[in-house]
Amino acid sequence: MSAAITDAIVLAAGRGTRLGAQTPKQFLAVGGKSVVARAIDAFLRNERVRRVVVAIGEEDEDVFSAAIGPRAGRLTSVVGGDTRQASVAAALEALSGDPPRKVLIHDGARPFLSQAIIGRVIDALDAHAAVIPGVPVADTLKRVEAGAVCETVDRSGLFQAQTPQGFLFGPLKDAHALSTQALTDDAGVMEAAGHAVVVVAGERGNFKITTQDDLAAAERAVTGMTTVGQGFDVHRLVPGGPLILCGLTLDEDMRLAGHSDADVALHAITDALLGAIGDGDIGAHFPPSDAQWAGAASDRFLRDATERVRRVGEVMHLDLTIICERPKIGPLRDAMRRRIAEICDLDHRRVSLKATTTERLGFTGRGEGIAAQALATVRRFADPEAAP
Ligand code: CTP
Ligand code: MG
Repeated sequence: MSAAITDAIVLAAGRGTRLGAQTPKQFLAVGGKSVVARAIDAFLRNERVRRVVVAIGEEDEDVFSAAIGPRAGRLTSVVGGDTRQASVAAALEALSGDPPRKVLIHDGARPFLSQAIIGRVIDALDAHAAVIPGVPVADTLKRVEAGAVCETVDRSGLFQAQTPQGFLFGPLKDAHALSTQALTDDAGVMEAAGHAVVVVAGERGNFKITTQDDLAAAERAVTGMTTVGQGFDVHRLVPGGPLILCGLTLDEDMRLAGHSDADVALHAITDALLGAIGDGDIGAHFPPSDAQWAGAASDRFLRDATERVRRVGEVMHLDLTIICERPKIGPLRDAMRRRIAEICDLDHRRVSLKATTTERLGFTGRGEGIAAQALATVRRFADPEAAP
């Protein structure tokens, strides 16, 4: 991880004329949470982002406050301008007193940016001054005049530019100061100043809400039916540490035995996630008979299950119970929750962790092994019975 400081700008000063709602689109709720709050939270959740500046319209103070509710102190707002570029300029100015090395600029109307995209953009800024996430154009492109096709446009090499776009702060500020054209993104400003702009992988899910259609798609994306999966696992305890549990390496004089690192807690969560989407179990995806998983770190399995869920839904909540006499989970609870949340790319408040002993009864009571059970709640993008 680079030590360079990264700040984020979220643009929310637009009027949303193409969508045409009374309230600007970024303040509308999707699945019970405002579009802009979803965007802001993605940055606040990212430990590599120092602070977030949101550009809002002068008249939108109240609706902004209502949309974001109480948020942590890393968030400030500035009054934006009449154009997207003017809003960016105002936010850059606000950061200038204590400038970051890297700055990410994101449309407040894009609610579904992932931690993976943020990470890719920040990483690429180690080697480049300007980075954008992009997705290759998938549909055939037509130039249309007066309702009729006049040309088929070759789509090869064409990408849709998404945000967050990332820049080295100094060069971007200089480019903005020089910019005279009206441009719809910041990469355009850098291109005009002669900088190379590099593309990293975006995600189709990271779409911008522009029209009523997009708003409906966003709503569909978060409000399918809810399913619950459960997982259970046991591993034997043997002498000699360290103990790997919940993705943490603990300084204990015992460890869990198994084919992989035997992280019983992560295995239970992995099975719960797979259960919620009806996608087999951990053994089906990572057979113990397969030598490549010998000694494997179990966060690999959990990441894979999370990815599988992400293709069809959103993880709403994980609830884990660890059953053991030792170690005492209380002092480790917070670190464990955060580690699980990190692996699953979730806010840690969506991860619950409980522990219990069995009053010295049974195999867990005798310290012969540790058991874990988990529940995963997943909101599906569509009815699981709907045609694929
Ligand atoms: N934006 C901004 N300040 C402006 C114009 C736009 O902060 N003066 C922001 C929008 O809030 C949005 C992003 O820039 O998050 C992308 O712009 P766009 O999708 O065009 O949003 P609007 O300008 O609000 O929509 P429209 O063009 O339909 O009016
Ligand atoms: Mg606009």
